[in-house]
Amino acid sequence: MLSGEKVFIYQRNQMTGLGSVLLTFFMFCIYYEEHHDRRIAILDDTFSQTYRKSKEVGLQGFLDFNFPVMNTPEEYQQVFQELNQVQMGHLTNENDWVDHMWNKTTTKDYPILRIRQFKDPRYFQDKRKEIFELYKYDGNNDPRMFERISQRICDNVSLNDEMLRDIHVILQNASIPDYAYSVQANFIFEHHNDNTNNTTNNNINPSTPSTPPSSSSPSLGPTVAFHVRRGDKVHGKRSESKLYLEEMYVDKMLQIPNIPLQDIQHCYVATDEYNVTLGLKESLLRRNITCQLHYLVPSNRDKDNLSDRHNQDDTKMFFTEMYMLTQATYFVGTFNSNVGAFVAAFRRCHWEGEIGSMSDRYHHFFQSYGVDRENWFIRK
Ligand SMILES: *[C@@H]1O[C@H](CO)[C@@H](O)[C@H](O)[C@H]1NC(C)=O
Ligand SMILES: *[C@@H]1O[C@H](CO)[C@@H](O)[C@H](O)[C@H]1NC(C)=O
Ligand SMILES: *[C@@H]1O[C@H](CO)[C@@H](O)[C@H](O)[C@H]1NC(C)=O
Ligand SMILES: *[C@@H]1O[C@H](CO)[C@@H](O)[C@H](O)[C@H]1NC(C)=O
Ligand SMILES: *[C@@H]1O[C@H](CO)[C@@H](O)[C@H](O)[C@H]1NC(C)=O
Ligand SMILES: *[C@@H]1O[C@H](CO)[C@@H](O)[C@H](O)[C@H]1NC(C)=O
Ligand SMILES: *[C@@H]1O[C@H](CO)[C@@H](O)[C@H](O)[C@H]1NC(C)=O
Ligand SMILES: *[C@@H]1O[C@H](CO)[C@@H](O)[C@H](O)[C@H]1NC(C)=O
Repeated sequence: MLSGEKVFIYQRNQMTGLGSVLLTFFMFCIYYEEHHDRRIAILDDTFSQTYRKSKEVGLQGFLDFNFPVMNTPEEYQQVFQELNQVQMGHLTNENDWVDHMWNKTTTKDYPILRIRQFKDPRYFQDKRKEIFELYKYDGNNDPRMFERISQRICDNVSLNDEMLRDIHVILQNASIPDYAYSVQANFIFEHHNDNTNNTTNNNINPSTPSTPPSSSSPSLGPTVAFHVRRGDKVHGKRSESKLYLEEMYVDKMLQIPNIPLQDIQHCYVATDEYNVTLGLKESLLRRNITCQLHYLVPSNRDKDNLSDRHNQDDTKMFFTEMYMLTQATYFVGTFNSNVGAFVAAFRRCHWEGEIGSMSDRYHHFFQSYGVDRENWFIRK
């Protein structure tokens, strides 16, 4: 910035969900790079209350990022101080920027562009809409935005070592197998033609996970992870999603091409309502699927007692669920959930071997299946 670089800063909301934060951030980054020549993007995490490690550290307590992140107002002030020192103090008047933003007089050449989701909600919403409109990415079966977003996510975001250690402790404590030992989805995808089209008998070889937490764990074979978003998403005031019943997830699983049903011994469900685990168990049984269903959701979670990701245990549970959804051989969820859309993209980072061609939609979004829509999209 001090050497004339133009910067884009995204200040996330106090409460925004993780999937939404990151998908929005990268979408904005792509736009500001292409249309404003802004190559430096900063995630401003100073204002958020969810997914914080502590007062001093936000999301960065759990994730490693390959771009600058501001965690506290002090860090933000520091930028201002530096600007003052080089006679660019005029840039530090925030009201002035905001005015300029609204007047659309800053957009191209102003050194700093800072979008504050909470303080300037209308500006944020308008801009987001404009960008989404521009890229016309609305589940129209065009995989290019998925390709770009997933590439950026894999190049810039990973779970940090401490969180990975916590995940292993949480899984072990709950007697849930580590899905890093799942058969890689691409293995099944690439080898299903090797034998016959008889998927019940294609003798799947275990693959070795790239970073095994201990060397003695046996392969789990192919695994499935469901993400069943309920809570405020379905019952809330804004009711962002219609209700997808548990059996729809199971039916979606059954429709996955070449899925080796007989070999699947482990299923996992990430959900915000405990009774989903009961419904899903029943649906699996009804379809004669005998996998063991694992979950972390405590039995007192329901629509009146949701997790708000304010405390660290809840946040760690969230990241553990995300890990399971990402490492599973198959992911079945909803793309209209930002978690679902993020996970599908994040799964690319664990995909070994060839990525595939555009026409096979990157192996169906890295073996991610939506009960709401066939194709990946980001909710407007
Ligand atoms: C923005 O536009 C308003 C009305 O046209 C004008 O009064 C104001 O000075 C402008 N602000 C900036 C920073 O350009
Ligand atoms: C993330 O990674 C890509 C490379 O794929 C890079 O071009 C980009 O600048 C990085 N940062 C952001 C914020 O997108
Ligand atoms: C371990 O599991 C028990 C119940 O099975 C639970 O009460 C406890 O909070 C768990 N500990 C951790 C660190 O997850
Ligand atoms: C296997 O593939 C052949 C040729 O494509 C097809 O005729 C047959 O119906 C398939 N069998 C099964 C069980 O899918
Ligand atoms: C598929 O393989 C199973 C297990 O070997 C076998 O019992 C079944 O008859 C085969 N089905 C077909 C259509 O070849
Ligand atoms: C779970 O609880 C919700 C309300 O919180 C209810 O609508 C739904 O029918 C319940 N499902 C099962 C399987 O009990
Ligand atoms: C499940 O298995 C039972 C007994 O083996 C059988 O009667 C039933 O038709 C099967 N149901 C489905 C949906 O395959
Ligand atoms: C809500 O769930 C949390 C975490 O499981 C629990 O500690 C709390 O007691 C529950 N509250 C109610 C009202 O059930």
